[in-house]
Amino acid sequence: MKQEDGLRSWLKQADDLGELRTIEGADWDLEIGGVADIVTERGSSPAVLFDSIKNYPQGYRVLVNSLGSTKRLGLSLGMPQDLSALGFVSEWRKRSKALKHIPPTVIKDGPVLENIRRGRDVDLLAFPTPRWFELDGGRYIGTGSVNITHDPEEGWTNLGTARVMIHDENTVGFYIAPGRHGRIHRDKAFLRGEPFKVAISVGHDPLIFLAGALEVPYGVCEYDFIGGIRGESVEVIKGEFTGLPFLPRRKSF
Ligand SMILES: Cc1cc2nc3c(=O)[nH]c(=O)nc-3n(C[C@H](O)[C@H](O)[C@H](O)COP(=O)(O)O)c2cc1C
Repeated sequence: MKQEDGLRSWLKQADDLGELRTIEGADWDLEIGGVADIVTERGSSPAVLFDSIKNYPQGYRVLVNSLGSTKRLGLSLGMPQDLSALGFVSEWRKRSKALKHIPPTVIKDGPVLENIRRGRDVDLLAFPTPRWFELDGGRYIGTGSVNITHDPEEGWTNLGTARVMIHDENTVGFYIAPGRHGRIHRDKAFLRGEPFKVAISVGHDPLIFLAGALEVPYGVCEYDFIGGIRGESVEVIKGEFTGLPFLPRRKSF
């Protein structure tokens, strides 16, 4: 199934499948994290969309447990949604073996460029980022996110999921473990005495998150892998400061 509108289209389809619940008025401080913990621990439970989060305007939403059922995994991967867990695994094995990578297409413009904040106007606290767990050192905006990085020697791009914590209005921190592809890119950049540039994407189609968390082989760009799953090239925009490719948001995925 072609996805015309990224996450919004995915939400509509998940809702039509009866796979989505909405909660209004939750607190970003531990309440969203508590619900996320319950639904992910239970297994095969609905995705939960939080809206009207305490002290934030309506429409500033947070989605949890996007991939927590075989139906929603099927939806996200363009596979049948009525498979048993075992049926899903054997179908995915078959499909992933036959997968042909399709490189992304660079385009110039997209809705993601409609809201740009620079310099002193950057305010990460404008978003209702949860403090997920009591012992977390802060609020983690990156959990279903991807860190987009570039190999300065070999020239390929990687998308990898790593937790990203907000330190203040315009600073985040993350840790990529040794051996991960993003970490290899960092080490290469530092060895060359170059800055390590990272673009962080949040709020995208769950397939992007899935690809970022999967162990896609070294040297393979996750956009190529996703293009292969979808059977069509992913459209990307190159960032003004980093040159790194990110999603335009609409009419892509
Ligand atoms: C929700 C979530 C959070 C993760 N957080 C981290 C993290 O903070 N640091 C890390 O090194 N790996 C983290 N991982 C694991 C990586 O995403 C995973 O190993 C992935 O395959 C790395 O991709 P890469 O080798 O292409 O960079 C996380 C995975 C998930 C699903």
